[in-house]
Amino acid sequence: MRVLLTGGAGYIGSHTALVLMERGHDVVVLDDFSNSSIEAVRRIEELGGRAVQLVTADLADPAAARAALEGIDFDAAIHLAGLKAVGESVAQPTRYYRVNIDSALVLLDLMHERGVTKLVFSSSATVYGDPTVSPIDESQPSGVGLTNPYGWTKAMIEQIIRDTRAARPELGAVLLRYFNPVGAHPSGRIGEDPSGIPNNLMPFIAQVAVGKRERLSVFGDAYPTPDGTGVRDYIHVMDLAEGHVAALERIEPGVEAYNLGSGTGSSVLEVVRAFEQASGRPVPYDIVPPRAGDVAEVVADPSKANERLGWSTTRSLAEACADSWRWQSTNPGGYAG
Ligand code: UD1
Repeated sequence: MRVLLTGGAGYIGSHTALVLMERGHDVVVLDDFSNSSIEAVRRIEELGGRAVQLVTADLADPAAARAALEGIDFDAAIHLAGLKAVGESVAQPTRYYRVNIDSALVLLDLMHERGVTKLVFSSSATVYGDPTVSPIDESQPSGVGLTNPYGWTKAMIEQIIRDTRAARPELGAVLLRYFNPVGAHPSGRIGEDPSGIPNNLMPFIAQVAVGKRERLSVFGDAYPTPDGTGVRDYIHVMDLAEGHVAALERIEPGVEAYNLGSGTGSSVLEVVRAFEQASGRPVPYDIVPPRAGDVAEVVADPSKANERLGWSTTRSLAEACADSWRWQSTNPGGYAG
């Protein structure tokens, strides 16, 4: 298949591009490089051993996106482009709604115009809000009581895709609800390159281990979890990338949501210890008050993806830490050097 990967130069996109290439698919990366680097595309080509077709355009701008994709064919789309920082979305709601919703609308229209019927959407476990059960499966309510605009855009785009399919029965769409992606390609050549202060746990820990930041702040130690710190389902980004390809290769008309997670929860302090072990470096930390909007535990029940996609995670948290450390220690300044 020839696959359009929107946001294909980003963290999830770059790893997914590589797995697609390894599976024999052709990749068209569309990115505006607002939060990614062209160096990532160069490295995917180097690792994959062949060229990627690159389209530089802002997908939220219909005229620009249509012009940039003129004459470029694709059989399916994996939609990853969008803004993803929770705190920023609270401060800049209109920007988040405009960019994320418009990008999805433009892509759906372009697919319709061209008769493309296969779509994989990068959703998030954030659509479950503050889940009342753990592990959580896809039958649990989603899009209820979410606490930030970023999360709402994911839930709204899921609904937009369902409504589009109702009007266009030939459309086959998969909504992939990611839990917490971590790690990097085992080569250490591509990985997560956050701009500014990382919001997420593992990139922050990696920057402490490499000496770029002094100490980690652990957000709360009085949650009802075994050691009191927050529990999440960390999934190796290579497992996540393989989940996209498994989903893409099995798409049928209709809309299906799948959790992509490992099914195992790890606490903040367990991640700290795993990273210390993998890196051989200390990760000093302070316990500070909980972060607004955080919940005690979010763990996937990935049975549906295991059974219907024939996919499951194969990489451990220890491997994710080792791969993240390889990327961080050999690229301390990210793609910029
Ligand atoms: C966050 C977002 C989620 C988004 C996901 C991936 C919130 C409420 N949720 O998930 O919508 O899809 O990122 O981008 O922001 N922690 C610390 N210190 C830190 C950073 C994190 O103790 O410096 C803790 C958190 O309290 C949490 C765990 O580490 O218990 C994981 O945090 P994080 O990596 O930010 O992911 P989530 O909050 O699960």
